[in-house]
Amino acid sequence: MTILAIETSCDETAVAILRGSERPSGSDLLASEVASQIAEHEKFGGVVPEVASRNHLAQLPRLLGRAIASANTTINKIDAFAATSGPGLASSLLVGNSAAKGLAIGAGKPFLAINHLEGHLLSPFFGSKKIEPNIGLVVSGGHTLLVNVRGVGDYEILGRTLDDAAGEAFDKVAKLLGLGYPGGPEIEMRAQKGDAKKFELPRSMLNSGDLNFSFSGLKTAVRYLLPVILSRADTASPARTEGSREIREDACEVPRFARDDSVVSDLCASFQQAVIDVLREKSLRALQQTKSRRLTLSGGVSCNRALRENLCATCQKNGIEFLVAEPWLCTDNAAMIAFVAMLRSENGNVSNLADEIDPNLALA
Ligand code: KG4
Ligand code: ZN
Repeated sequence: MTILAIETSCDETAVAILRGSERPSGSDLLASEVASQIAEHEKFGGVVPEVASRNHLAQLPRLLGRAIASANTTINKIDAFAATSGPGLASSLLVGNSAAKGLAIGAGKPFLAINHLEGHLLSPFFGSKKIEPNIGLVVSGGHTLLVNVRGVGDYEILGRTLDDAAGEAFDKVAKLLGLGYPGGPEIEMRAQKGDAKKFELPRSMLNSGDLNFSFSGLKTAVRYLLPVILSRADTASPARTEGSREIREDACEVPRFARDDSVVSDLCASFQQAVIDVLREKSLRALQQTKSRRLTLSGGVSCNRALRENLCATCQKNGIEFLVAEPWLCTDNAAMIAFVAMLRSENGNVSNLADEIDPNLALA
């Protein structure tokens, strides 16, 4: 069984070809092509849907050609075609979905519509034949989820963010600080040089009694700190006061922070630690509640080394198995979509060609 999968849910155009194998490793990745659109969206400070879908359309034929060539195969030798059908940007999902459906019709082969979140969720098991039960922490730009995974397609959502996703918080805080897009890698880079204890930031909903998250308060706390830091960094300029805080008139001129690198690094480190602390504590509680002995981490934010190391050390200390995919499988890609399609088709699942994309597609 050889599957070709297309991923176009947001700002990455991706094509992968995965072949099933009898070996214990389960499958062979024959090709994985990803064309990032970061440069196109960076100037806007975030993803512009119209720009994203136009780029998917322009990139897809080239990526399909490259994937077929590097897999040393032909369209006729593909046994099934898969595409992300949600959640994501409607106009972007439509591009990959329509292309995969068209290829399936042309080749007379089955089509599989795959949930993007399921792609992330199962990515720590990439290549394996079996999905072991686990608590899955999915942290991406659009979602923060704690999921009780009992098997393929058997998911129970234990907790989710009530406002911003973890990755969204990284992106918004980076924007406040005048750093580049996407914010996660920018913040991580600066956090490495910073003191995480320098600024006291909130660990929201830690005692909420449930497994939900909230990151917008943390972002707001950073926003309120900025004028204070700025006035400290430039005492020569006039400032006005409001309550106990000093507010500079030009507090929005974020590039000024570049003058004091260490303050930015400390703020990035403090922010990153606040996110990690909440993710770790809620994950531990989910493991306790379900009596699970296995934690998986996935989604773009799971590229973050400090998060990976913190969760790995915590799991080791508590006798819990910890699984996380290699960084290239953590951000959006089509290999994870092909992997889910492979597992699903082995279970006899096929999608209806008339099924529509769903920008709000639920995982469970
Ligand atoms: O999974 P993903 O590629 O796309 C979505 O499905 O949303 O995740 C993208 C998110 C962005 O918010 C980005 O800032 C974040 O992942 N991210 C990181 C890191 N690399 C990417 N966040 C923290 N640290 C990183 N190293
Ligand atoms: Zn994603």
